[in-house]
Amino acid sequence: GKVGVLFGGRSAEREVSLMSGGGVLAALQSKGIDAHGFDPAQRSLAELAAEKFDRVFIALHGRYGEDGTLQGALEQLGIPYTGSGVMGSSIGMDKVMSKRIWLSHGLPTPRFIVLDSKTASVEELRKVPDELGLPLMLKAPHEGSTIGISKVTSAADMQGGFELCAKYDEVVLAEEFIAGRELTVPVLGAGRNARALPIVEIRAPQGNYDYQNKYFSDDTQYLCPAPLDDALTQKIQTLAVRAFNAIGCTGWARVDFMLRATDNAPYLLEINTSPGMTGHSLVPMSAKAAGVSYEDLCVEILRSADL
Ligand code: DAL
Ligand code: MG
Repeated sequence: GKVGVLFGGRSAEREVSLMSGGGVLAALQSKGIDAHGFDPAQRSLAELAAEKFDRVFIALHGRYGEDGTLQGALEQLGIPYTGSGVMGSSIGMDKVMSKRIWLSHGLPTPRFIVLDSKTASVEELRKVPDELGLPLMLKAPHEGSTIGISKVTSAADMQGGFELCAKYDEVVLAEEFIAGRELTVPVLGAGRNARALPIVEIRAPQGNYDYQNKYFSDDTQYLCPAPLDDALTQKIQTLAVRAFNAIGCTGWARVDFMLRATDNAPYLLEINTSPGMTGHSLVPMSAKAAGVSYEDLCVEILRSADL
C-alpha cells in the first residue's frame, strides 16, 4: 500500500528531521515500497487525510511530531503510524514525567528539581547546587537533540543556564550530573516482545555531545557494541526494555543512559520515541552492529505501525 513518510515539521529539531526523513524515504523506496514524503509544516491534516496513506512512518522529532499531538490526530484519522501511541509519545517527550514514571517503577534516574520558568526566584536557583551538587545539568524537558541543555559547573552559571532553558520550556529540569560513560540503547518491538539492540557508547570531545557533535562533527567516537562485560551489557539492555515498557512505548525508541564511573551503576536520562535516523544517528549504528542494514531497519520500524 501507499506509505507516507512524515518529516520536517515545526519543532526546533526540524533540520534534524529533514535529514532523518530523507534517509528513511530513500530507504523505503529502495525496498520497492510506494513511499511518499509529507511535511506537516507545509501541508494540513486535511491534505494528509486526502493522501489516503495506508500507514505512515513518523520521522518527525520534537513538538507536534514526537509528543503525542500528531499521534492523536492520526488516531482520529484512522491511519496506522510507527512508534508509540499518544500516551507513550507524550510522556516520552517530557523528561520530568519520564523520570517520575521510572522512579515509581523503582528504576534508577538521577536526582532532580523542577523549576518554574516564569516564577523561580533567585533564592530558589541558589539552593539548587546545594541540593544536587556541582556540576549539574539544566534541561528544557520537552526538547530534543540537546537543544537548551547546559552543564552548570559553578553557581554563577545557574542564572544563564536557567534563562536559556526558560526560552524553550515552561519548566526547567535541574538534574544531578552523573560522571561516567554515556550510553544509548535502541529498543524495538512492544511489551513482552520488546528487545534491545546493541549498546552504543558515545565518547564526545570534552564529554560534550551537543547539537554540533551529534549531527555535523566527526570528532565524536562511537563504540558499538559498547565495551562492557556481558553481565553489565545484559543489565543495561534489560533496564532499557523495562524503561520502554514503563512509559508504555511501542514500535521503537532509544533509551539514553549514564553509567556512573565510580561503580558502573546505570542511570536513565531519557527516552526518545522518534529517534534520529540521520547518517550520524545511533539507532542505525546499533542496528548495523546487529547485522541489520539501514534499509531493513526502516522496513522493520514501518511494520511496527501494525502493532
Ligand atoms: N531527538 C533526536 C532526534 C534523537 O533523540 O535522536
Ligand atoms: Mg532526547
